[in-house]
Amino acid sequence: MKQSVKMIVGNWKMNGVAADLAGAVAEMLADLQQNPASARVGLCPPATLIERMARIIDGGPIMVGGQDCRVEQKGAYTGGVSAEMLVDAGARAVILGHSERRQEFGEIDALVSQKVGAALRAGLTPIVCVGETLAQREAGQAVSVVRDQILGSLNDGLAGRDWALAYEPVWAIGTGLTPTLDQIAEIHAAARDAMIERLREGGRAAPILYGGSVNPGNARDILAVDEVGGALVGGASLKAADFLAIIRAA
Ligand code: 13P
Repeated sequence: MKQSVKMIVGNWKMNGVAADLAGAVAEMLADLQQNPASARVGLCPPATLIERMARIIDGGPIMVGGQDCRVEQKGAYTGGVSAEMLVDAGARAVILGHSERRQEFGEIDALVSQKVGAALRAGLTPIVCVGETLAQREAGQAVSVVRDQILGSLNDGLAGRDWALAYEPVWAIGTGLTPTLDQIAEIHAAARDAMIERLREGGRAAPILYGGSVNPGNARDILAVDEVGGALVGGASLKAADFLAIIRAA
């Protein structure tokens, strides 16, 4: 199934300070206001920038998102940020279960599923990430790993809500390597099956974003693959010209 409106989301990870709002974000915003994108566009800066980015965008053509949230609404969780706090700061979406959080913070599927519930409770659009490691792909396990992550990381509450899945092969993140278009098509088709297995009809509508070394040179081909409903962009989303080129390829 082809998604008509693609979703292009930038994940700034732990990059970005105030100067980038006056620079890259102002440039992106001016371009998108002058020439509206056919894609739905999101940017997920570090938590420290969410409120200021949301103020600059001020309801304009970029949806601001967080990169993680805690399950709890508030409490004694030093360093934690809740889904409700993201909303309070002006976010409308949140990336959950990114492989960097799975690897660095030991996040497992069951926790990601709970975080999805927290995001939905607060009214955020969850972007749920899955993807195999290189060792898993080389062992022929890419499809089964992604299927298991989807079955474990989704949440019943997603049916009928605005959300997206993101397939990000761990070995393609920040490496300049990408799967072949056939490999992307294979996983996205399997991901759709798993979403439907998990959520029944509720698994049909959400776009499946591809993420991992998306750049202005490969975006158009990747976005044309069946069941690629958009892109989750890391490094290239930090530069206005690159991110805009990817948006225009959608
Ligand atoms: P890169 O685009 O830098 O490979 O990062 C992808 C990613 O992890 C987005 O969430």
